[in-house]
Amino acid sequence: MNKSVRSAVIAGNWKMNKTPAETTALINEMKPLVADADCKVVLCVPFIDIPAAVEAAKGSNIEIGAENVHFKASGAYTGEISAQMLIESGVKYVVVGHSERRQYFGETDQTVNLRTLAAVNAGLTAIVCVGETLEQRELGYTETLLKFQTKMALTNISADQLKNIIIAYEPVWAIGTGVTATADQANEGNGYVREAIAEVYGKEIAETVTVQYGGSMNAANADELVAMEHVDGGLIGGTSLKAPDFAAIVKAASK
Ligand code: PGA
Repeated sequence: MNKSVRSAVIAGNWKMNKTPAETTALINEMKPLVADADCKVVLCVPFIDIPAAVEAAKGSNIEIGAENVHFKASGAYTGEISAQMLIESGVKYVVVGHSERRQYFGETDQTVNLRTLAAVNAGLTAIVCVGETLEQRELGYTETLLKFQTKMALTNISADQLKNIIIAYEPVWAIGTGVTATADQANEGNGYVREAIAEVYGKEIAETVTVQYGGSMNAANADELVAMEHVDGGLIGGTSLKAPDFAAIVKAASK
């Protein structure tokens, strides 16, 4: 991390876990454990849990995020949620383009870009996910793919709007598998993302953008990962459902 030029952000991604009642209980357990964090702490929760999460996090240093956002302001889009709906509900962050959405729900680089634009134009901070599959890595396409996904996601995002963008490098082969990228692989992937931003917006601006690592990050490996130059925190799936372990990651990013 380089906290002198950019923020460190630890964000939980609860995926399709926890009911509203369980949300209240888990956030109440987490609050005291992360109260003295020296990094931003965000929990991205299922839509239905947002009111309970916002209420439970009130007065604490935990900010609430959603796990997706639609690109239109309103209309005939059954099952979708707009940026304004999220904002009025107290949401500050939103995950966009998670590999599970790309893999299971037909999300493309173009829709990721549209959702990112909608989020940022409405005033949300978008946590945009990019990452290669194992096959793409083995074919030697990691750098090309990460740069392409990053640039596509940021199409029509102004330099000024980058302050509301976080990119999460999440190698698909490391998500929910227990296989973590090595600290060097994480730093390399995050470095490619930063290079892509620099190629479009210039090096100085690229240095200010928070780039997270995600994929089986846990209490045991967080220290080593966040110590890397380009790893400005993490997007945490499974471990964000365990308060003490999530708090340990927050602690690692607070050093
Ligand atoms: P994981 O998920 O920490 O469970 O691997 C990370 C993510 O999908 O954001």
